[in-house]
Amino acid sequence: MRGTLPGFRDLYPEDCALRRHIVDTFLAIMGRFLFEEYDGPLLEPLELFTDKSGPEIAEQLFQFEDRGGRRVALRPEMTPTLARMAGSRAQTLRRPIRWCAVGEQFRYERPQKGRLRSFLQLNGDILGEQSYRADGELIGALLSLLAALGLGPDDICLRLSDRKIWQLLLGHFPCDGAAVLRAIDRYGKEPVAVTEERLRNVMGHSAEQFLAHWEQLRACDSLTALKTFFRKFPSQALDERMADWTELLQFLTDLGLGEYVTVDLSVVRGLAYYTGFVFEVFERSGAGRALAGGGRYDDLTEKLVGTALPACGFAIGDVVLANILRGKNLFPGGQAVPDLWIVCDRERQSAALAIATAVRRIGGRVVYELRSELPLDKQLRQADRSGARFALLPADRDWLLKNLSTGETSPSRAEDFPVLWTKIGEFARLEVR
Ligand code: HAM
Repeated sequence: MRGTLPGFRDLYPEDCALRRHIVDTFLAIMGRFLFEEYDGPLLEPLELFTDKSGPEIAEQLFQFEDRGGRRVALRPEMTPTLARMAGSRAQTLRRPIRWCAVGEQFRYERPQKGRLRSFLQLNGDILGEQSYRADGELIGALLSLLAALGLGPDDICLRLSDRKIWQLLLGHFPCDGAAVLRAIDRYGKEPVAVTEERLRNVMGHSAEQFLAHWEQLRACDSLTALKTFFRKFPSQALDERMADWTELLQFLTDLGLGEYVTVDLSVVRGLAYYTGFVFEVFERSGAGRALAGGGRYDDLTEKLVGTALPACGFAIGDVVLANILRGKNLFPGGQAVPDLWIVCDRERQSAALAIATAVRRIGGRVVYELRSELPLDKQLRQADRSGARFALLPADRDWLLKNLSTGETSPSRAEDFPVLWTKIGEFARLEVR
């Protein structure tokens, strides 16, 4: 047997280092927005996703019958699990609930650039708050994370859209709204003519009239353009919604993140449960698949556990994100570099190991040659090549501490080793971790 299953991957140390950087940055930034981490089971009852995520995800499930005869599925996303968990404790949790999660997801998709069958998702959700401020705070956390990873508004953009506006618009055309949105969701992923054909199939005789409006709507990339477009469909509900849009965009501008945001009503999201603002994040160039997506889903917990809990959330996948960070050289990575390399022979081994343990206990990265017979000069060459900051060298009955980048040395007596790290700190004016 050779290789992995299609869409699964082996993660080499450099891949894990990048993943660790992404996850650590995510948890640090979410922490600054007061999100708490949660997790759920990898395996769930099948109907959790067939009922709640919508047909696209249902077709992509890894599903099987377990030994107890239950129909189960590997989780393709976190949101239904989160809605169940938060909904079940809705009475006791302090609101707004700000939760985040890091976890592997599984979707039986056609593997392609940016899309695999097993991938890591970083999720953030705010539950229990209906105001546009929750959407703003959530999008703020997402964009702050991407900024912390080094991605600026020239690199990426968040395309903001709205299922409520779509509902209001589709109210003017007799049709199955959910089917129309599923067709619109295909826009950009296939030739426009194919999407239009899908729309004709689901909209029947109102299709032609709708298609003309849709072309104009696609061209709206600002709130002003959107307001002008909707003058053709005036209503109080629409005016109120435009006021929410104005407030949300101002909120993001006040957070200093306005430059990332573009209005784009062609984003409708493939998942069935969204009810309000929705968004996706892409490279500014328009290349590649979405690296993040999310939106408001106010009805999901009620449908799942009978408790009404308004909510909004996002998920970022690690596949596209890692490709972008690598492509823009935003993670130099590289192998772990030792702080201290101990050069020694068999005679000094006991003393060297005691020093290593003492320095490791106070946070230093220490390494030494495992082939004890290797001559000392060759060991020192290894130390140099490793990029280590310091080498400890035997000198008569003493040790010599050498700064490998400057070549400076300072004597360091063997019996001093419990304070060695402090000495290294003084020597190199480094902070002791
Ligand atoms: P989603 O748009 O299905 O949303 O997925 C979010 C992100 O996960 C995508 O933008 C992409 O980066 C990544 N992703 C999805 N499928 C794959 C795949 N096959 N391979 C690699 N990466 C993938 C959700 O999952 C929603 N549950 C987000 C959400 C949270 N909505 C509210 N709360």
